[in-house]
Amino acid sequence: MPPAAIYLDHNATAPILPEVADAVRAAALRYPGNPASQHDAGRQARRALEQARIRIGEILGARTTGMDADQLIFTSGGTESNNLALRGLGQPPVPPGGRAPTHATSSLMHADPLAEPGTAIGAAARVIISAIEHPSISRAAESLALPIPARAGGFIPPVLQTLGVDAAGVIRLDQLESLITPTTPLASIMLASNETGVLQPVAEAAAICRRHGVLLHTDATQAVGKAPVDFTALGVDALTATAHKFHGPLGIGILLIRHGVQLAPALHGGFQQAALRPGTESVALAVGMQTALELWQREADARRERMTMLRERLEQTILAGWRDAVVIGGQSPRLPHTSNIALVGLNRQALVMALDLAGVACSSGSACASGSSEPSPTLLAMGLPEEQISSSVRLSLGATTTLAEIDEAVRRILNVCNNLRRVG
Ligand SMILES: Cc1ncc(COP(=O)(O)O)c(C=O)c1O
Repeated sequence: MPPAAIYLDHNATAPILPEVADAVRAAALRYPGNPASQHDAGRQARRALEQARIRIGEILGARTTGMDADQLIFTSGGTESNNLALRGLGQPPVPPGGRAPTHATSSLMHADPLAEPGTAIGAAARVIISAIEHPSISRAAESLALPIPARAGGFIPPVLQTLGVDAAGVIRLDQLESLITPTTPLASIMLASNETGVLQPVAEAAAICRRHGVLLHTDATQAVGKAPVDFTALGVDALTATAHKFHGPLGIGILLIRHGVQLAPALHGGFQQAALRPGTESVALAVGMQTALELWQREADARRERMTMLRERLEQTILAGWRDAVVIGGQSPRLPHTSNIALVGLNRQALVMALDLAGVACSSGSACASGSSEPSPTLLAMGLPEEQISSSVRLSLGATTTLAEIDEAVRRILNVCNNLRRVG
C-alpha cells in the first residue's frame, strides 16, 4: 500500500475546512433564492450576501460603511479578479451594451480621436508589473500589450514595464519611480510571492504611485488568510484575494476597490454588483469565504506561530540532512507557511514526481506552471544560479499541518533525495 500522503501544497489550494464546508452547505439550503429577486427568498439571499461582503471587507481593513465606502466585488477567483483589475481599473464603467475602453484609450492616453482606424498616434500607456507576478497578472498584462487589428481604430497598445526583483526575492522599489511616466495609468505588485512567500513592500510602492497619480493594484492572493492584510493601511487602490488559498471554497474571489476608483467591467449582463461584475452571485460561496476568513481571524496569531515553527523545523532538518540545500528567499520576511528549497544536485521535476510516489504532495513552482519544464520566471528574475533554479521545490503548509506530518515528510524527502542521488 502506498504511504498516506502528506499534503504540502497549500499554495496551490488549501483544502476546505469542515466548518467552512458546513457553512457553504447550510447557506445553499437556507438561501435558495436569487439575490437579485425582489421576493422574500431573494431578499433573504441578498441579506446573507451583503453580510458576507461587509464581513470580508471589515476583516481586510476596507471601509465598509458611509459615503466613502470601498467596493468589494465578488468574482470567480484570483485569476478573474486580476484580469478585471488590469483591464478595467481607472476606466469609466461603460453603459450596458457600450464598449469598454482600454488603457490605451483611457483619459491617460494622448490618442488622437480623429485618427484613421488602426493608426497608432500618441503616447502609449505604460502599465507596470513586477517581474514575479502570477501568470494571471503577467499574461493579462501581456495580452493588453498585444498588437490589435486595424479595425479597432486608433488603439495604441500599452507598453509593459517590468519592475525587477533582487536576489532575496524583494521587488526593486528603487526602480519604481524611474519607470513611471506621465502616461502610466496603473501598476500591479503582488503582496507576497506564491513561489517564495517573500513579502513585498507594497505600502511603500503605494506611496510612490500615489505621488505620481498612478493606480496601484496588489495581488494579495497568497497573503490573505496567512498574514495580516489591511487594505486601508496598505494604501493601494485595488486588491485581489481568493478563498481557496485560505481553506475556503474554490470558485470565489474578490476584487476590493478603493472608494472613488473607477472600474470598467470585463463582462456585460445584468445589474448585479453595480454592473461591474454581472451574473447571479453565489451566496453559499460568499458565506464560505466569509467563514474561512473569520476562522483565520479568530486563530490568526496561533496559526502564524504554529506554521512558522513547523516551517522552521522543516527547513532546518532538510538543511541538516542535505548538505547543498538552500532556502530561497530565506533571508527575507516571508509568509509563515511557504518554503522554497533548492536541493542542489537534483532535478526539480524528478523530485516532485518521486516525492509524490513517496507520499509527499508538493510542487516545483506555481501550480499554473507545474508540469512545465520551463524554469520559474520568479527564480530567474532573482538571478539565482541555474543549479538552484533547476533543483527547487515549493513546500507549503496549511492550518491543519501537524508536527508528525512535518517530521515524516522530512524523512521521506531526505530518503527520496538520497535515492535520486544514487540512481542519478
Ligand atoms: C499569487 C496568485 N495570484 C493569483 C492566483 C490565481 O488564483 P485562482 O486560482 O483563484 O484563480 C494564484 C493561484 O495560484 C496565486 O498564487
